[in-house]
Amino acid sequence: MQRQHACFWYRKLGFESLPRSVKELAVVVLAAGMGKRFKSELPKVMHLANGRPLLHHVLSAAGGIGARRTLVVTGTGRELVEKSVSEGFEAEFVFQDKALGTGDAVARCGTALDGFEGTVLVLNGDAPLITTDTLLALVSAHSSGDTAVTLLTAELADPTGYGRVLLNEQGSIEMIVEEADASDQEREISLVSTGTWCFDKGALFEALEEIQPSNVQGELYLPDAALVILEKTGSINTLMTNDTDAVMGVNDRYQLAQASAKLRSRLLERLASEGVTIEDPLTTYIDEGVEVGRDTVIRPLTFLEGSTRVGSGCQIGPSTRIVDSQIGDGVEISFAVIKESTVEDDSTVGPFASLRPGTVMRRGSKIGTFVETKATTIGEDSKVPHLSYVGDTTIGARANIGAGTITGNYDGETRIKSKTVIEDGVLTGSGTTIVAPATLGKDSVTGAGSVVTRDVAPEDVVVGVPAKVVRKRKKPRS
Ligand code: UD1
Ligand code: CA
Repeated sequence: MQRQHACFWYRKLGFESLPRSVKELAVVVLAAGMGKRFKSELPKVMHLANGRPLLHHVLSAAGGIGARRTLVVTGTGRELVEKSVSEGFEAEFVFQDKALGTGDAVARCGTALDGFEGTVLVLNGDAPLITTDTLLALVSAHSSGDTAVTLLTAELADPTGYGRVLLNEQGSIEMIVEEADASDQEREISLVSTGTWCFDKGALFEALEEIQPSNVQGELYLPDAALVILEKTGSINTLMTNDTDAVMGVNDRYQLAQASAKLRSRLLERLASEGVTIEDPLTTYIDEGVEVGRDTVIRPLTFLEGSTRVGSGCQIGPSTRIVDSQIGDGVEISFAVIKESTVEDDSTVGPFASLRPGTVMRRGSKIGTFVETKATTIGEDSKVPHLSYVGDTTIGARANIGAGTITGNYDGETRIKSKTVIEDGVLTGSGTTIVAPATLGKDSVTGAGSVVTRDVAPEDVVVGVPAKVVRKRKKPRS
């Protein structure tokens, strides 16, 4: 507890990086376990918690402490894990071909850490709620203590599944027992090992040579290495964290859902503190990494996913899902699904619209009710207000696409997709069908029910099936 106070002050004093006394720090993240309890083809650490792989959460938190090196131990599905990590983090990979236990996983890092002298911070890749603050606290507790190992512990209301920490009468560690090896009495203990450790490198690798898989699971346990050090040196330092959420390990899919929920509320709280109104946190799902600007209001049942960015002063929702899309400032969206699209400032979408990949809405444009778009640009101040399908199309500025206008972009016989170009100021009458490829020239007009099968010249008015020119437009808007 004393240490905890020290760390509290350390943070309070505003240090954002490691204390000077930590000379060298290497982070080792264990991510090679099979995740048997997930019953999955996908490596456990790749399962998403609030939209991001478990392992990425851990690496983000670790990234904040500014360690010199980060090693990730991979095993099952290593290619997938390594690819995904490389896309967002700088890490070295160490391969553990068989999941022989956490002790074996760390021992595998011996070669990579050859020549490294300093502190090794070991983290579980399945503990996505760990925070940079907690890690900094542990590292500084280790550096200011005089033991070769410091363990992050926590007192849990439900310690099921964790290694239990047994203390002697003086209150120092005597034993660490895994759940599988614990007696009923030991299972009653609520003080647990969080699986987050600082070791002096030399002592760690010496101890790892001495551990044996003599336990119920037949594994090499990392905690046993700490016990070897305890036996040799007489002490293990501990730091107990009060942030019990932060140490949660995810061992099955229900715990994944619980961790997701905690990550989600943490993120919503942060967004709220940055000036975003979230009307109903219980039904708002925002992935890690999504950005939302100030004074944007997120209404109930909204999902913002992937690499989505939303600007400021927007009204998003209710009932809206936005995936991998860029939304500008002052945009209003309700009852809509938007994927891989761009919506520029002051545009409106919905209700009941589906923007499929490649939709670009220029400033001040509108996509209204029961409209589907795909690979289409809607020009500045142009409107597609009702009941339309617009695909593979470029619409210029100030065009008005009448109710029920459809672009026939796909020839079912030849299976060829063709493009439609609708130039500035075009008006299409209700129920117009444009059989692509076709260009509707600037300021041209189609009558209600027209079927356009060939290009329309600028300012021409066409009607009928197939549409024919009847005259020039009287008063072009532009
Ligand atoms: C582990 C700890 C336990 C602690 C708990 C905290 C051991 C033996 N047990 O238990 O004391 O309370 O974490 O959450 O250390 N892994 C490998 N290679 C292996 C085995 C595991 O890389 O051979 C990785 C896993 O991918 C996982 C982490 O190590 O990210 C922990 O393994 P897991 O099997 O989940 O251990 P727990 O039973 O949770
Ligand atoms: Ca675990």
